[in-house]
Amino acid sequence: MARKVLVIGSGGREHAIVRQLALSPREPVIFAAPGNPGTAAQATNVDLDPMDSDSVVDFCLREAVDLVIIGPEDPLIAGLADHLHRAEIAVFGPGAQGARLEGDKEFAKEVLASAGVPTPRYHSFSSSRAALKHLDNIDLPIVIKACGAAQGKGVAVCSVRDEAEAFIRECLDDQRFGGAGLRILIEECIFGPELSVLVVTDGQSYCLLAPSRDHKRIGENDTGPNTGGMGAFAPVPLPGDLAEEIDTRIILPVLAELRRRDIPYRGVLYVGLMLTRSGPQVLEFNCRFGDPETQVVLPLLEGDFLELSASTAAGKLGGYLQGFADGGEKGLENWPGAGMTDWSRHCVVVVGASDGYPGNYLKDKAIELPGSENEHGWIIHAGTKNRDQELVTSGGRVLGAVGTGSDLATARKSAYDLLNDTHFEGLIYRRDIAAAKGENRG
Ligand code: GLY
Repeated sequence: MARKVLVIGSGGREHAIVRQLALSPREPVIFAAPGNPGTAAQATNVDLDPMDSDSVVDFCLREAVDLVIIGPEDPLIAGLADHLHRAEIAVFGPGAQGARLEGDKEFAKEVLASAGVPTPRYHSFSSSRAALKHLDNIDLPIVIKACGAAQGKGVAVCSVRDEAEAFIRECLDDQRFGGAGLRILIEECIFGPELSVLVVTDGQSYCLLAPSRDHKRIGENDTGPNTGGMGAFAPVPLPGDLAEEIDTRIILPVLAELRRRDIPYRGVLYVGLMLTRSGPQVLEFNCRFGDPETQVVLPLLEGDFLELSASTAAGKLGGYLQGFADGGEKGLENWPGAGMTDWSRHCVVVVGASDGYPGNYLKDKAIELPGSENEHGWIIHAGTKNRDQELVTSGGRVLGAVGTGSDLATARKSAYDLLNDTHFEGLIYRRDIAAAKGENRG
């Protein structure tokens, strides 16, 4: 079993991954590349560029790394996992073929169509003239998406034509998202609460981690522009037959379609759903753990995350899962791998961002962390860095306050208590994480 693990990435998700690995009874040696001041507490940060696959492979060979866990989408889409495989290094994260599910939204739609899985109807465009003409023939609201990966910002829900026109021009004419926005999808708008399902799979076996919900808009009551995610909670209760419906109508057909296409997949497939009145529909795939969903899903894991990720990377997930029951009395029925989650606990993360985010935001502001971290609540670093021995802000999403408890209200209070005790100039956060009952549009 793996002992030396390299975690690729530098955000909140990667700090959460490092933190969970460090809880392993196998006491792994952990590296983070490049990591952040949070990962440095439990891992050795290594100054490697995740997009420089040769350097990553060289490092792994030199240090005899047993397992690489790739956090962010960009290196996955660029094929870092393929480079590592060629060097016979075990890796948790799909190769470029599988990562295309996130890197090319039109491809994802094709896979969904072949699998017969419900998803909003769409048209695709690479010319603004054709896209604007299309607006004349459809009703608003609509959703416009950059086809490529744009750090969660390449999506706009447009209720009026001016907004739609502006976003189309930003993508196709002004190239605001670079190559990621040179092709766009214009989708029908559907309504309902969102749900994030993290599917851990080695291509044959799979398990579903705790269902979670992200809050993507910057403003309370889901207002303002989309962000990478302003907070999340887990588990989300799934009434009636919803768990079974998600598994049989969505997850199983998608995994079968990947196998039919000979697309190997070892890692996590993030399935972003909207729970509409007529059933769940797929809004998006990501080829990696969600951020900030990971911060609330991993702490609820039963068992050893190191073993889960290593057995997935080795194609031996089925054997690992045999050790888990169905989740006990509080477990969700018809949720494959329910025994992997401790359903008696709840977890909430509230993101502390820097004023201006998701646009231009303040940077280099001194951070005062709370003095009261413990097993019920802790801080996850995202956009922080050390400058002259001082912790300062460096990203839009600066940190996440995580709270756990035996009910959602307790977990929520722990997270907000921590954030209220955290200080930096320009700190903003939503007060309604894990409280909103409203619908989303997506
Ligand atoms: N929380 C959304 C994402 O990870 O893309």
